[in-house]
This record gives sequence, C-alpha cells and structure tokens, in this order.
Amino acid sequence: MDILNKNIFILTGAGISKESGINTFREKDGLWDNYKIEEVCTVEGFKKNPDYVNKFYNERKKILECPKIIPNHGHKSLASFENKCSGEFLLVTQNIDNLHEKAGSKKILHMHGTLDFAFCMFCKIRLKFDFNLSSKYKCPNCGNVGNVRVDVVWFGEQPKFLDKIYKYLEMTDIFISIGTSNNVYPAAGFIDFIMQTDRKVKMYEFNIEKTNKSYLFDEVFIGPASKTIPKFVESLS
Ligand code: APR
Repeated sequence: MDILNKNIFILTGAGISKESGINTFREKDGLWDNYKIEEVCTVEGFKKNPDYVNKFYNERKKILECPKIIPNHGHKSLASFENKCSGEFLLVTQNIDNLHEKAGSKKILHMHGTLDFAFCMFCKIRLKFDFNLSSKYKCPNCGNVGNVRVDVVWFGEQPKFLDKIYKYLEMTDIFISIGTSNNVYPAAGFIDFIMQTDRKVKMYEFNIEKTNKSYLFDEVFIGPASKTIPKFVESLS
C-alpha cells in the first residue's frame, strides 16, 4: 500500500524522547518512581504545595534547555515523513517537550500541553514560560500573585484539542503509535476509537517492548525509535 498519499495519524509518548535523554514516566527509575503523580500533576497537589509543583516544572524546563537534549533520529525521521506525505498528516504528542518542533515537524498537537507556556488561573492570560514559576510570581496582566501555573494538562483535567483529534481519527487511514505505554486515556483509547469506526485502518506500533495494546496492531516494530522509525520511513520512499 502506498502510505505517502494516505491520511496519517501519529501518536507519540515519552519513549520517543528517551534516547534524547528525557526520562519516561513508568519505566524503571522513571519520573513516577521519583515523584507522586498526585503531588506534582494534579490541581489538588498544586493548591496544597504550589512551590513543590513549580519546582518540579522549573527543573523539567531546565533539563529541556540543556544543549545536549536534542531531537534523535526518531524525531527527525517523523519530520521527513511529514514532508513526504501528500495526504492529511497529524502528529499528536503526549509529550510536553519541544523535540518534535526542533526536529522540524510542523503539524503537531500537544494534547498534554507543553513546557513552553504558563497561564494565570485568575485572568487566564497565556504567558511564555521563560521565567521561574513561583507562588510569589505576580501575573504581568492582572497583578494577581500566586496564580500562574505551567500550561500542562494535569490528571483530572481535559486534554487539549480533542475535537480536532477525533475528527482526524475519523478520517485516518494509517494510525501509528510510538513510544507510549498506553496507560493514560484518552490517548490510550484512540486505537479503540478507530476500531469502532467502519474504516479499514492500518495500525503500526513502535516500542522497545510489547504493550497492553500490541495485539490490536497490524504490525509491531520492537526496538529503539531512533532505529525503527527511520527504517520504516525510508522503506516508504
Ligand atoms: N523507543 C521506543 N519506545 C520506548 C523507548 C525507545 N527508545 N524507550 C522507552 N520506550 C517505551 C516504553 O516501553 C514505554 O512503553 O516508551 C513508553 C513510555 O511509557 P510511559 O513512561 O508511560 O510514557 P507515556 O506513555 O508517554 O505516558 C503517557 O502519562 O504521566 C502521563 O502525562 C504523562 O504524557 C504522559 C502520559
């Protein structure tokens, strides 16, 4: 099947950024081995101890700004895949890093937000996250102190762009899942959503090991994304 003229939907998770030096969440020594989700990734956790949460995101932002944290061949080959495609193309990422952008991908939706932005919970203004988050920080727009938080979707909050995502899923011909453990919904349910439609969709999964949804995919490519994705994209030209 000539994939390049089909409608492509790509979902990425933390696994695609692992080889760039960014920790995943649920692998051994992952982020959730060292932090409690409810303390750093919920509104309640923020209200209880805002500066513990602010510090968590200030640190993740700092890591992302290290010169050695750069896109790997997995990110780069997705950017060239997008350029080769003549059909519709959408890259939905659960990641809050900016490595897809740095690799040259354009049609990206960050369904869990990104470390590029913060917002004021009082006046809702969106701010470039280029300052230190703190409970003492004064919103430059409304002057409110202590209400500015990172623009990342926390557990219990509605992910971003879901309308657009489901519209795309309804017209997808090829669904590609890369580097996600399928632990968090709604992203983990995108494949189930597709299977409910009467469309014949080809489904590929890329991971370093089988996941709980591997049985639903037509083809599963086991290996590091920096190797398996370039090989797959090269095979399409
Ligand atoms: N290449 C491909 N896959 C990899 C690689 C690699 N080099 N390294 C790890 N993986 C796989 C792991 O096998 C695992 O299945 O990446 C996946 C990472 O899983 P998680 O740590 O659960 O990350 P993710 O699926 O993105 O989590 C989803 O959970 O905590 C929330 O908001 C957070 O967006 C995140 C969401």
